[in-house]
Amino acid sequence: MLFMRWFLPVLFSFVVSVSGADSDWPAYLGDKESSHFSKLRQITPENVSKLEPAWSFKAGGASPENRSQIQCNPLVIGGVLYATTPDQKAFALDAETGKELWRFDPVSIPGITKSGVNRGLMFWEDASRVSDRRIYYANDHYLHALDAATGKPVSSFGKDGWIDLKKDLGREVGGLALGVTTPGVVYGNLIILGMRVGEGPAPAAPGPIRAFDARTGKLVWRFNTIPLPGEFGYETWPPNAHEYVGGANVWSGFALDEKRGIVFCPTGSAAFDFWGGNRIGQNLFANCLIALDATTGKRIWHQQLVHHDLWDRDPPAAPNLLTLIHDGKKRDAVAQVMKAGYVFVFDRETGEPLFPIEEVPVPASDIPGESAWPTQPIPVKPAPFTRQVLSYDQLTNLSPEAHRQVLERFSKVRPHLPFAPPSRDGTIIFPGFDGGAEWGGAAADPEGVLYVNANEMAWILTIVESKRDGAETKSGGDGIYMQICAACHGLDRMGNKAQNVPPLVGVEARLKRQDVLALLKTGKGVMPSFGFLSETQQNQVADFLFGNGAAQTGPAAAVNSAGKKEEMGGADVLGKIPFTHTGYHRWLDPNGYPAVKPPWGTLNAIDLNTGEYLWRTTLGEYPELTAKGIPPTGTENYGGPVVTAGGLLFIAASKDEHLRAFDRKTGKELWKFRLPAAGYATPATYSVKGRQYVVIACGGGKIGTKSGDTYMAFALPQ
Ligand code: HEC
Repeated sequence: MLFMRWFLPVLFSFVVSVSGADSDWPAYLGDKESSHFSKLRQITPENVSKLEPAWSFKAGGASPENRSQIQCNPLVIGGVLYATTPDQKAFALDAETGKELWRFDPVSIPGITKSGVNRGLMFWEDASRVSDRRIYYANDHYLHALDAATGKPVSSFGKDGWIDLKKDLGREVGGLALGVTTPGVVYGNLIILGMRVGEGPAPAAPGPIRAFDARTGKLVWRFNTIPLPGEFGYETWPPNAHEYVGGANVWSGFALDEKRGIVFCPTGSAAFDFWGGNRIGQNLFANCLIALDATTGKRIWHQQLVHHDLWDRDPPAAPNLLTLIHDGKKRDAVAQVMKAGYVFVFDRETGEPLFPIEEVPVPASDIPGESAWPTQPIPVKPAPFTRQVLSYDQLTNLSPEAHRQVLERFSKVRPHLPFAPPSRDGTIIFPGFDGGAEWGGAAADPEGVLYVNANEMAWILTIVESKRDGAETKSGGDGIYMQICAACHGLDRMGNKAQNVPPLVGVEARLKRQDVLALLKTGKGVMPSFGFLSETQQNQVADFLFGNGAAQTGPAAAVNSAGKKEEMGGADVLGKIPFTHTGYHRWLDPNGYPAVKPPWGTLNAIDLNTGEYLWRTTLGEYPELTAKGIPPTGTENYGGPVVTAGGLLFIAASKDEHLRAFDRKTGKELWKFRLPAAGYATPATYSVKGRQYVVIACGGGKIGTKSGDTYMAFALPQ
């Protein structure tokens, strides 16, 4: 056995060297530095026009009626590709042929449900036992350890191969929503993990950063992003905020400096996103980039990128590690792209900004109870990669009619300024809630160039009192609906088509009462579970939806205090947050195009050595507009780029369902291919037996495009 263990790797490396050093995609976004970069150079600007499909794999599990998606950036290790299906199963393929090797369904474990989306997986191998190689895969609030060779749970990890991530949070969260969409990062024998939690006006779970033992699943360290008494930053919140405020979670991924043992953690905004009257203060460590000692979880430095966030303007993607020449000196840097279109660049060890950051005065809030922070940090360089102000001259002029309708709306909402606080008249969010940069993030090359795709459209945020005019609601169900459900399903219960939220008007014709009650407990797709509501509250909401709200008596507040202590860990936020919003609304013209002038989607190359742009181009197009002679407008886009030593940038992401290759030096589009469904994911590139492949998940399902279940790999003809 000993002999075999020694012999096999040697044999393996011999085979690899014969075929010319194959290249893996061993971590989410390519490597632990989240560079999205590959040193492969077989596919080049000269030959990319010949790129053709090599294989495609139908993963199964797409659900067109639920607009299912695949956001997964696959791993490729030693010729095996690991990824997930639209319905949250993990699988392994032969990366050369696309042939399935194994599949793991978390539902095979009793009591475990599938929900949300999955952006990728983690790989760990035991340095002392070559045979112990594992894939870590999170679904809902469970982290699974799977044998990389078979897909079978590793039974020595946690309980029968999984751990419950609702444990070890430092606070009981009961039925509050908590899940993992974006993978964490592996450091030695630690799995460093973030999570996704609620961000609406309902109670939300906190978002500490945690490290688990890769072998056993035991908690090794926890960093409290909402500090406990005595911890640094505690005084940036009201007293005891750690007992009732949620959020400040790492939902978008990490970057790891393995050599230094530093993990860089971008934190989300605190809940509720749009009214912070119960969290007055600067709110450390929400909206920060935090550098933690990866071994101990101790803070080395932090920079807060938005103070007391009222816009959901949190860092949307994993940071990128780069090496730059700055003022003539070599600097190891970390860059963070933002939804607002900024790039913050810091020294990795000290957190010193490499380009100055100005604290710019911003407008005050006139919402009762709110106290907006007086300034916000804005980097002096690089220039933002999106427009910053939506003024009259930026309104669409695609047609006189579109312009007229958009102008009419424009005259009714508040004039736009960056960081204008939420208002009851309507506040323009530009770039929109999904950026600027979004979860696809940016790519970084060894020369210090950052490549970032961006959305450039406006959304409108409108704040409303949860209880209209301060009056008590007629029924508990009405009040709960206003506070929790209206943000997605709309005050008028008409849903939000662009966000894939169904209307609830007429729900009784489609669903039985017990189906709705079951749905509240489990959640479904993007809809979180509402298990934290008491049975009475769940029944009241159902009564409200089925039109017998008046039959239920008693104001919402009384219901809350009755159900409070045992249901919500003492945090009666349901009764405390007096505001909600009318939903996440893209501002569109009457034909469904963005209300602002193009570009609507862009791709940017920024030299972070100098902070100057190398090039900027549109990403994607609306064929029917191009046909009318309008230059390509770019489209809204989700999923990031990949850059290669071969001189290319690969990206799908656009609404027009294409995978594209650009010359990374010039930004010229060199090749595109129509996918079976839009690729709202980041591609991966790897080689097997000397042949370079580019693979993309074609899951569609967002922004009105169809769902799909295919992974497609491309290569040059043999
Ligand atoms: C974060 C956004 C969000 C919130 C908050 C939310 N929902 Fe939903 N809801 C959704 C989405 C998205 C779906 C569609 C899920 C799917 O089919 O994948 C949905 C589906 C439903 C459905 C099924 C409708 C149908 O026709 O199939 C019901 C009923 C429902 N929600 C009720 C509620 C209630 C009641 C609340 C408040 C307690 C609520 N939702 C809060 C997003 C939300």
